[in-house]
Amino acid sequence: MQQVKAVVARGKGQPVELVTINVPNPGPGEALVKVQACGVCHTDLHYREGGINDDFPFLLGHEAAGVVEAVGPDVTTVAPGDFVILNWRAVCGDCRACNRGEPQYCFATHNATQKMTLAEGPDAGTELSPALGIGAFAEKTLVAAGQCTKVDPSARPAAVGLLGCGVMAGIGAAINTGAVTRGKSVAVIGCGGVGVAAITGSALAGASTIIAVDIDAKKLEQAKKMGATHTVDSSKVDPVAAIQELTGGNGADVVIEAVGRPETWKQAFYARDLAGTVVLVGVPTPDMKIPDIPLIDVFGRGGSLKSSWYGDCLPTRDFPMLVDLYQQGRLDLDAFVTEEIGIGDIEAAFEKMHHGDVLRSVVIL
Ligand code: APR
Ligand code: ZN
Ligand code: ZN
Repeated sequence: MQQVKAVVARGKGQPVELVTINVPNPGPGEALVKVQACGVCHTDLHYREGGINDDFPFLLGHEAAGVVEAVGPDVTTVAPGDFVILNWRAVCGDCRACNRGEPQYCFATHNATQKMTLAEGPDAGTELSPALGIGAFAEKTLVAAGQCTKVDPSARPAAVGLLGCGVMAGIGAAINTGAVTRGKSVAVIGCGGVGVAAITGSALAGASTIIAVDIDAKKLEQAKKMGATHTVDSSKVDPVAAIQELTGGNGADVVIEAVGRPETWKQAFYARDLAGTVVLVGVPTPDMKIPDIPLIDVFGRGGSLKSSWYGDCLPTRDFPMLVDLYQQGRLDLDAFVTEEIGIGDIEAAFEKMHHGDVLRSVVIL
């Protein structure tokens, strides 16, 4: 057992606190990771606001890279000293998805078995719920060994750690779920961190037309720098008509919804070409409903309506590949790191999210 500093959300809507936690030594199937960098994601804020579930206290942070410090007795996939990106898809290898050869949909992913606990205060000893089974706003965290994906150790932790969640979700929404390939037309609705990553992924895959749609002109500027060929300000013009106009009157082959709202999903539905694909990567809230769309339009327009969880990524396949492209200068992950901050600055980073000036604040440990 070790004691380390970590950021915890103790109760619904309460500011996060920097506290000391107990981290058990790794047991069978587990790894202890010394965290080097961890991005601040909307999901961390959703946990703090009680929007995910009520399992307080949460140990926040889940977009991280670090070095393995110790592993459990039976662990062979990683060893102390390995540089790893943490993932929340440690596949089981034996569920119905894994067995049919689709581990990216694994229904029984692994997390650490032992619990980290609060080390101080009246509630000392209380078990922590790590965000997405990771909990990496901490000097060290305990995860399942399969949550550690080894990558090129010379890569910058702050940049490649972002592949652990939001950036992978966006890139994967394009290349895995949307199957964007050379010559396709793509529209991305919502150009925050996830949407911009979808734009980057589409550019990487060779899409010829990449239309960025947002209601914030600043976001469109940024999207242009990250590979968008056209921009549409949907606070000023009808995005469906604009996307059709930019694609020969037809609509885009793939439309990626990266906001998570019924009205933007409806825009995506009508802005795609016949037989095209809609990918929903934005996360809706439980009260939202599918918009009122005539069923004949669903049938008549053909194609597919998909959702993308974690960019349908398989960490062992996708992380090393994307890190290699980054190292070769072909994928600009540095552009996602707006600022590097300390472990005490997370509330301020949450605040900045509302202003929309930041793609990612990354905590350096
Ligand atoms: N039309 C177009 N764009 C919109 C609209 C709208 N009606 N409403 C909001 N946006 C834009 C915002 O201006 C912002 O640029 O969507 C973007 C959302 O970006 P962020 O708030 O930075 O969120 P991000 O981290 O990109 O995540 C997007 O994916 O993973 C999920 O939970 C996440 O649902 C969220 C979504
Ligand atoms: Zn499985
Ligand atoms: Zn995230």
